[in-house]
Amino acid sequence: MEISGMTQVLGLFGDPVLYSLSPAMHNAACSYLQLPYVYIPFRVEKNDLPAAVAAIRALNIKGVNITVPHKEAVIPFLDQLDESARRCGAVNTIINNDGVLTGYNTDGVGFIDSLREADFNPAGKKAVILGAGGAARAVGSALVDSGVKEILIINRTVAKAERLARLLDQHVRFQQLILGSTLELADIDIIINTLSIPFKEQGEWLLNFTSAQRTLFYDLRYGQMPSDFLTFAKTINAPALDGLGMLLHQGARAFSLFTGKEAPLAVMRSALAL
Ligand code: ATR
Repeated sequence: MEISGMTQVLGLFGDPVLYSLSPAMHNAACSYLQLPYVYIPFRVEKNDLPAAVAAIRALNIKGVNITVPHKEAVIPFLDQLDESARRCGAVNTIINNDGVLTGYNTDGVGFIDSLREADFNPAGKKAVILGAGGAARAVGSALVDSGVKEILIINRTVAKAERLARLLDQHVRFQQLILGSTLELADIDIIINTLSIPFKEQGEWLLNFTSAQRTLFYDLRYGQMPSDFLTFAKTINAPALDGLGMLLHQGARAFSLFTGKEAPLAVMRSALAL
């Protein structure tokens, strides 16, 4: 990629960013479409976030993705929020329009895009979400917006599950995560794991499932090692997806916001080695 006076900067703010796949994905797309952008990972520590956001304006950075731990903390420093970010209280993409910074969230819609790509239409379906943090909020609000019929939120801290249930919809149910308990999945179409802990600890599953063969198991995490959650799905021949599809599609949506162009999905997918 040639750097010239025309080159505009895109980037990622997070901590850590060392192993992020976003730079490879976005730079491959920019090169393929011969767009004058370069996408740089910036490790931004918590205390430096206000200065980093000010630098977007000062350096005329065109847009950035925001990742852990800044997705919520960045909101007070922006000029406005798109509905996608307001709804789930988190930002994963900032667009700089002549110094006006707008926060978007493409995680939820990226999640739905990845489901549709796997021929799963959430409308009218029953879902279970494990966890009630930021990722659960993005996924839950996207499911509600896509016409899901029912959601059950299961979380260690009941107050957080209750808060998320209230935020999403009055019909969303919640219950406490009791380690080692059994969950009946007979009429559940999809179960999404957003927990930040391994699904198996010292040989014990966090939860046991019965009648799960037709349920789609979706783990928001991705990586070289299959997660225990997805390993379980495979042992019972249930359909399973990891978080790479969501990474791809949230990136594709962000790319369109950055550049105004349709994202070259195949190019971005091969940059992720999917
Ligand atoms: P994110 O924003 O990525 O979703 P998060 O907000 O830290 O991450 O949420 C992580 C999820 O993992 C939460 O649902 C959390 O449960 P609590 O709300 O009870 O904190 C869950 N989690 C983290 N550590 C856990 C543990 N040791 N046992 C059970 N659940 C845990």
